[in-house]
Amino acid sequence: MNPRLDLLQPYPFEKLKALFAQIRPNAALPPISFGIGEPKHPTPAFIRDTLASSLAGLASYPSTAGSEALRQCIAAWIERRYGLPRVDPATEVLPVTGSREALFAFAQTVVDGTRGDALVLCPNPFYQIYEGAALLAGATPVFANSDPARNFAPAFDRIAADVWPRVQLLYVCSPGNPTGAVLSLDDWRQLFALSDLHGFVIAADECYSEIYFDEARPPLGALEAAHKLGRGFERLVVFSSLSKRSNVPGLRSGFVAGDAALLSRFLLYRTYHGGAMNPSVQTASIAAWNDEVHVRENRAAYVRKFDQVTPMLAEVLDVALPDAGFYLWADVSRTGLSDVEFAARLYAEQHLTVLPGSYLAREADGINPGANRVRMALVATPEECAEGARRIVEFCRGMARAA
Ligand SMILES: Cc1ncc(COP(=O)(O)O)c(C=O)c1O
Repeated sequence: MNPRLDLLQPYPFEKLKALFAQIRPNAALPPISFGIGEPKHPTPAFIRDTLASSLAGLASYPSTAGSEALRQCIAAWIERRYGLPRVDPATEVLPVTGSREALFAFAQTVVDGTRGDALVLCPNPFYQIYEGAALLAGATPVFANSDPARNFAPAFDRIAADVWPRVQLLYVCSPGNPTGAVLSLDDWRQLFALSDLHGFVIAADECYSEIYFDEARPPLGALEAAHKLGRGFERLVVFSSLSKRSNVPGLRSGFVAGDAALLSRFLLYRTYHGGAMNPSVQTASIAAWNDEVHVRENRAAYVRKFDQVTPMLAEVLDVALPDAGFYLWADVSRTGLSDVEFAARLYAEQHLTVLPGSYLAREADGINPGANRVRMALVATPEECAEGARRIVEFCRGMARAA
């Protein structure tokens, strides 16, 4: 067996399951989950209908590069969304079957594990696929702690000087999971300068890019930042997805875009790996990328939920509206409980699931930057989100009275 499989960490939800295994939740209350970050709004009817009416596509093998129509549609979407003059559909875009597999497969393509000292730098807290991808590519993951004083941007200035020359790949997540933070143009300037100096590749995970709160201020994208800073896409690849944007996590549809030289090697890898997108899914994806009405409606539904829930929770926890995404990243220190205790007791007393922040991070520089925080995904119905918030308020007030 591949010995590196033993290096993989249990997934955060496995840890949560183990934590809850001995707990009997309050049976008087129906369960509510703010735990899993899975979009729950209904899939728009036109996407379902397009998928259903394009099943003829099942009769042929798809090409790994996807259809020209899909790549053109994605390139045009990137140009519109990020104000870019031209994205070449032939060389700068590839469809992928969800950003998760692509984030994983990309490390297998980019990392030279034969050098023996390869490092992959990840944000901390982070989406666990980055770590597993690094480990199975033969690299060691290292972590840049998010800095709450700088809107949770990873503190790259605290990475030791002897680490940088060994970094082959850097994962960035903006808007971030779980913090919701969006990197600024200055953050990107710093990252590009480091990449120019040390030669590492940047994988920019942007799967939450279309969930934000102010229609006039969409999150800055990495390709957009590169363009604004007068650069090309060298050593930069972004990962995007329909899962959250269009409420189709089961469709498995996304794209990667950026550095043509990297994408050409990634296409070679994918040809062997077998990452081609189902032709019917390609047709449904074209319909989804070409429509923004449903995306605006989806955002509006999140805005209503965050408008209702955030002020309620801010009365009892240190929590604020994130830049983007569908998570609240709350500091629970005020309750006197750790994040794990908070999640366990909230589940027991209020039958409500939240994810302990320390499960989403690793200890680095002597701290776990997720400690004392919990992640709450506002993916349930507005009624459930409001009821969940009411239960958290009641729980925290009870804690305060008991103190
Ligand atoms: C940060 C982040 N990246 C990537 C993904 C993968 O999304 P998908 O594979 O559905 O595109 C997720 C899903 O939860 C995520 O939270």
